[in-house]
Amino acid sequence: MNALETTAAEMVADGKGILAADESNGTMTKRLEAVGAPSTPDTRRRFRELLVTTPGAGHVISGVILYDETIRQSGSDGTPFPQVLERLGMIPGIKVDTGVKPLAGADGETVTEGLDGLRERLAEYRSLGARFAKWRAVLSIGQATPSHYCIAVNAHALARYAALCQEAGIVPIVEPEVLMDGEHTIERSAQVTEETLRAVFAELLDHRVLLEGIVLKPNMVLAGYQCPQQPSVQEVAQHTLAVLRRAVPAAVPGIAFLSGGQSDELASAHLSAINAVGDAPWELSFSYGRALQAAPLKAWAGQEANAREAQAAFEHRARCNAQARNGRYSPKLEHALAA
Ligand code: 13P
Repeated sequence: MNALETTAAEMVADGKGILAADESNGTMTKRLEAVGAPSTPDTRRRFRELLVTTPGAGHVISGVILYDETIRQSGSDGTPFPQVLERLGMIPGIKVDTGVKPLAGADGETVTEGLDGLRERLAEYRSLGARFAKWRAVLSIGQATPSHYCIAVNAHALARYAALCQEAGIVPIVEPEVLMDGEHTIERSAQVTEETLRAVFAELLDHRVLLEGIVLKPNMVLAGYQCPQQPSVQEVAQHTLAVLRRAVPAAVPGIAFLSGGQSDELASAHLSAINAVGDAPWELSFSYGRALQAAPLKAWAGQEANAREAQAAFEHRARCNAQARNGRYSPKLEHALAA
């Protein structure tokens, strides 16, 4: 195995998953203010520090995606964040896209930007300690969307990013997110997710990306949150696996799902049901933001006195999802693990 393959394998190691803590300052400000905490460089730093220094986090969290501000910050003892993570057994990663912008000529659709100067930024992030990166493309389902044009430009950008990452010795997390908002059925989500993944893999191959050295971060296949017919947990698992089997080459070492606004419990239940089917050619893991952070953020609420309670809430969610990695999550664990 070369270094990229080794890192990718570590990121999706058995029983572990990735913590996405790479919210931009704008998004993090909204999340902090929603729990009554001020958003300053230090409150953002402190919340992320308390998550990653949760005792035992390294047993269930393989890597942490950081934002540009955080990768340049240090823990309370002055140790730079990437070194804090390495010391605790977690791989430092970095979000490198610069966000979604309106796509010219495609009303309401977006393209993810950040390719200009990316080679130089990756070299700097590598020197700061990052061993993997993330780029998120966003597709939304509507009457006539996503358009073929929107899928194509986003897939192309993801592939250019992935090739540049591998050139820099950094494992790319390739994230084409089909949003779960909307009234669409699970069948429509399956069709759009498959079309998107096919386009992404065609571009990755054209761009000579080593599939063994990436991690795919897709959405699960759900019905839109506003769809009156909501599928069972089993149906989500079946549709998600059917789409992945059709569109994702077996050379990819691992698939780490985003949570996408699902409740904490459903994000764990779906991942568990997906793993319980068994016999998949890839590791089936998680790279959750909200589904790992919402509970600890609420418990912390910006108050240092609540730090231990926040860490307990984080540990609980991480352990539920670690169980789900092996198909062993059940709603009963919500109480059993917390006790
Ligand atoms: P969510 O799990 O909150 O969807 O976030 C994951 C992520 O990194 C989105 O880019």
